[in-house]
Amino acid sequence: MAIHPGTSATGNLVDLSQGTISREVFVNSSIYQQEQEQVFARSWLFVGHESQIPSPGDYFVSSMGEESVIMCRDRQGQIHVFLNTCMHRGMKVCRYDEGNTAVFTCPYHGWSYATDGQLVGVPYFKEAYREQLDKSQWGLIEVPQLANYKGTIWANWDASAPSLTSYLGDMKTYLDTALDARDGSEGGAEVLMGIQKWIIPSNWKFAAENFSGDAYHNISHRSVDMVGIGPSGRNRRDTDERDTAFRICTAVPEGGHGALSYWQAEDIPYSSSYQNHPIVDEYFRHCYEERKRRMGKDAGLLGSVGTVFPNASYLARQPRSIAVWHPRGAMKTEAWRWFLVDKGAPNEVKEILRHYYMRYSGPAGMTEQDDMENWNYASAASKGVIARRYPYNYQMGMGHEGSDVPLPGLITPNITEQNQRNFYKRWAEYMDADNWEDLLTPHGK
Ligand code: FES
Ligand SMILES: [Fe+2]
Repeated sequence: MAIHPGTSATGNLVDLSQGTISREVFVNSSIYQQEQEQVFARSWLFVGHESQIPSPGDYFVSSMGEESVIMCRDRQGQIHVFLNTCMHRGMKVCRYDEGNTAVFTCPYHGWSYATDGQLVGVPYFKEAYREQLDKSQWGLIEVPQLANYKGTIWANWDASAPSLTSYLGDMKTYLDTALDARDGSEGGAEVLMGIQKWIIPSNWKFAAENFSGDAYHNISHRSVDMVGIGPSGRNRRDTDERDTAFRICTAVPEGGHGALSYWQAEDIPYSSSYQNHPIVDEYFRHCYEERKRRMGKDAGLLGSVGTVFPNASYLARQPRSIAVWHPRGAMKTEAWRWFLVDKGAPNEVKEILRHYYMRYSGPAGMTEQDDMENWNYASAASKGVIARRYPYNYQMGMGHEGSDVPLPGLITPNITEQNQRNFYKRWAEYMDADNWEDLLTPHGK
């Protein structure tokens, strides 16, 4: 079934002239299947962070769409991403989450692969294969495109896709607010402890679009604000920047990415949220001053959340993390969250943040639970044959996009649904495109 918005068998899936999106997009299994080919097999997907595999032989088993993949560092120190499937009969060659190994030995018949993917061991090579198997042809399948952006590892199954940096485009400015160290130095993040994984009974796009810039759902988090789970005991966050900066939603039209950030036009003195923890307070005060010194007026961009199309989202303020919404069915998502800290931060800082991150995010995190509740119930209430007849409303702020804020992308101050419209516009282009050539000139079709 080809999905041509406005002409497909399922009707107007993404109708941007009306600002509506069909519920089929969130519940229909054949649309879900088509997404695997049209979206996930073509996009740059976040796989992991280099700090997870610092030494030769280190590996981390990740996921790209529905595919299990191994991110590993070979003996020469080079990072690879392989499909986690044996070339003999398809067995998963690595069944652990992470570790260190010299070879990946398949548990079924024992073929073994080196950390650079080469097939190096075949049981009964002489007796059974008569030495006639060409091992050089049967190594692990490696992604054709791999990129390391400030320590984050991304991969793409489509050799014709543009480079990661051109794919990210203007989104780099916003993604950097999560990946750069708090003192403004490039990169400098590391993953704190193991990652968290859990299942959400809803479509992956609920989470992806929410993180692309849903500035409208604060009511959902009212209770955590009242409890005051932030380090200061006030609200759920670590700073009062909402009082000193204004909110901006940024859409990156050519990529389908979206970010929600704060823009602080004036020079505002540091305001502490860690008054109960002097070492942490001192660390962030120092970072704040250092960042201003390094970045000048660019320090006015305070990241909040964002989604790199299709399914990698970030939180740029504390709690700072990357989440991937792995598709596992039309109404099933496996969420993974990587917590980030500054590599050079004192242990006391990492420890306080570790506790805060767990209070906030992940399956037991109070804020994350608020969001999941919404997506779960929305999914359940959208799957019936009657409910499916009625599209969702994405009309907020239509025709009022844009501003003169001096930052890249299409920026609209305060609350709007431009980012979500942008996300689904790009989604529809992927669903419609035959190849990357079409995706680079979607309007020429
Ligand atoms: S399936 Fe891996 S060795 Fe047979
Ligand atoms: Fe939320």
